[in-house]
Amino acid sequence: MNSRPASTTPGSAPALGAILLVLASGCSGTPERTASAPAPAPAAAVTFSVPDDSLIPKDAVGASIRRGRAIVLATHDSLPGHVGNGLRCVSCHLDNGARISSGSWIGVYASFPQYNKRGGRVFRIEDRVNECLRRSLAGKPLALDSRDMTDLVAYFAFLSHGIPQGTKAEWLGMKRLTPVTPDRAAGQRLYDGECVRCHGPAGEGTAIAPAVWGPRSYAIGAGMARLHTAAAFIRWNMPFDRPGTLTDQQAYDLAAFVLDHPRPDTPGKEKDYPKGDPPDDNPYPVNAHRPPAKSGPTASR
Ligand code: HEC
Ligand code: HEC
Repeated sequence: MNSRPASTTPGSAPALGAILLVLASGCSGTPERTASAPAPAPAAAVTFSVPDDSLIPKDAVGASIRRGRAIVLATHDSLPGHVGNGLRCVSCHLDNGARISSGSWIGVYASFPQYNKRGGRVFRIEDRVNECLRRSLAGKPLALDSRDMTDLVAYFAFLSHGIPQGTKAEWLGMKRLTPVTPDRAAGQRLYDGECVRCHGPAGEGTAIAPAVWGPRSYAIGAGMARLHTAAAFIRWNMPFDRPGTLTDQQAYDLAAFVLDHPRPDTPGKEKDYPKGDPPDDNPYPVNAHRPPAKSGPTASR
């Protein structure tokens, strides 16, 4: 866009406008999206389904989708300088983001733009990706117009195949549990019995699983650093080889134990929730509001 021809004529402004229009419609993905009016979510229920690879077009868009998928799998190698820990996108968004119980990306593209409480503003999906990069990967955001961001968005658009724009699919996000009071000591015993073989005695990770605390793990400002989110993720997805075998209580005990350890900082986290509405499990104080001393997984008990 900034490589404008030197000989700017009066006709170049409309031409630029036309280019922008072409780009804008090219970004919106499937024809259904461009054809549909900007109406609210239709009443028709959508069903969870993972689009088949045969739906990936054999053209430049298809190449972008495949490259986006490669980035979520090999995040550190794909985005040098942007990942500050030992995690990759699919460390939490399991099965390439297609597992329903782990913050699934099926339909996520269709659910944006959306209001984000933590940011206190409306997010594009690109903003949401950058939040996970900064917080969950303790790293640095991507330029919004970078090829890497484009490819990630292309992959997300593909995972929303057939889901009308504006739909907030009910399976999005981590399926929360009914909160219970965690017992950290029980969590430690469970960790030693169930988790240590893959995540290591000091939470540092092993060759087969990423770090759950310490400098190689997600940062304090990540969603996974919240008690309810971590408990839900663990309940439905861990142990990796026997998901669904823990009780809600055990998941809370484990989450509290895991979150009781240090992890990378998220600079600027005190500016989160600028409307003063942090959730009760937010593990750090924010300027706009200070949670009561007893709430949050880092509170001493
Ligand atoms: C440490 C775990 C973790 C890692 C690693 C991680 N995320 Fe996330 N991500 C989350 C959690 C937790 C949420 C919020 C889920 C919820 O709202 O219940 C989330 C939400 C999202 C959302 C919005 C989902 C929705 O339903 O609105 C997108 C998009 C996303 N992540 C993309 C990424 C990308 C891309 C990467 C890699 C660059 C990544 N995430 C890495 C934990 C992680
Ligand atoms: C058989 C090995 C295995 C066991 C046992 C296991 N995990 Fe995991 N865990 C994994 C793998 C592998 C991933 C990341 C998936 C990926 O990268 O594809 C993961 C991811 C995670 C994550 C999100 C990413 C991160 O690093 O924080 C958490 C939290 C987690 N496990 C907690 C636990 C807890 C708690 C237990 C004990 C109940 C447990 N796991 C048991 C293999 C295991």
